[in-house]
Amino acid sequence: MQTNQLFRLDGQIALVTGGYGLFGKPISEGLLEAGATVVIAARSIDKIGAAVAEFRERGLAADAMELDLSDEASIRAVVQAVVERYGKLDILVNNAVARGGKKLEEETAENWERIARVNSTGLFLMCKEVVPHMREQGGGNIINIASIQGAVGPSFHVYEGTDMTSPLHYTFEKWGMVGLTKYLANFYGPQGIRVNCISPGGFYTDQPEPFLSNYNKHTPLGRMADEIDMKGPIVFMASEASRYITGHNLMVDGGWTNW
Ligand SMILES: NC(=O)c1ccc[n+]([C@@H]2O[C@H](COP(=O)([O-])OP(=O)(O)OC[C@H]3O[C@@H](n4cnc5c(N)ncnc54)[C@H](O)[C@@H]3O)[C@@H](O)[C@H]2O)c1
Repeated sequence: MQTNQLFRLDGQIALVTGGYGLFGKPISEGLLEAGATVVIAARSIDKIGAAVAEFRERGLAADAMELDLSDEASIRAVVQAVVERYGKLDILVNNAVARGGKKLEEETAENWERIARVNSTGLFLMCKEVVPHMREQGGGNIINIASIQGAVGPSFHVYEGTDMTSPLHYTFEKWGMVGLTKYLANFYGPQGIRVNCISPGGFYTDQPEPFLSNYNKHTPLGRMADEIDMKGPIVFMASEASRYITGHNLMVDGGWTNW
């Protein structure tokens, strides 16, 4: 296979959870531009309808389905609908994230469990629903979007001078996601299912100045992530370009975790 062909995704069916958020949009766009059909699964189809139409106008094979990761029936229905509509499911990107967590002493069991219902239970249920289809079709590709905080603890000094912080659940769940990746990679490798993580650094969204300069100083490449940084890594991990890679956690963080 020629090198440029290794990166093509023509004929591949992908499902991206939270596929129109900060990182979700470039993930969906990268897969679409590489030739995949991408089902963008989001809590509200209304919010992403215009975006999907825009992708389609560019000749890209975008689709949208409603998904609530806190609801097992919704997860089952979406996976079933993708397989019914397209006959298979080749690539699952677990990208969605529920937020709203707190620091240890402010966190409550109720809030912790609400978030875990999406980020932990929803994640495992999504894999559980998709894997039988991938097994049946002789292989597949699961990509979990973790974080620098699934590889190191938060560097709280970057929040100095702001009221920003990092909630406990996030680090806990992202380390769990990396563990789930390694477990599934080893278990399903013999069945041709690859499972990997991509771990981005922080996305630039007009954060307050002290945070930005602290963050940039901590990052060897001197900046936060933008909408292009994820496109190459996602296409690499989703395509034959990474065909001998499984159980890996690819850091896309400008060097944040190199210290
Ligand atoms: N933004 C960052 O700086 C950053 C840094 C590192 C890693 N990440 C990771 O990248 C991924 C995407 O993050 P983002 O910042 O783009 O997020 P975002 O907040 O822009 O989007 C998150 C998406 O998840 C969806 N979602 C939330 N709860 C859901 C539910 N119950 N059911 C279905 N969908 C639900 C939201 O609708 C949204 O589309 C996450 O896994 C996040 O942890 C983000």
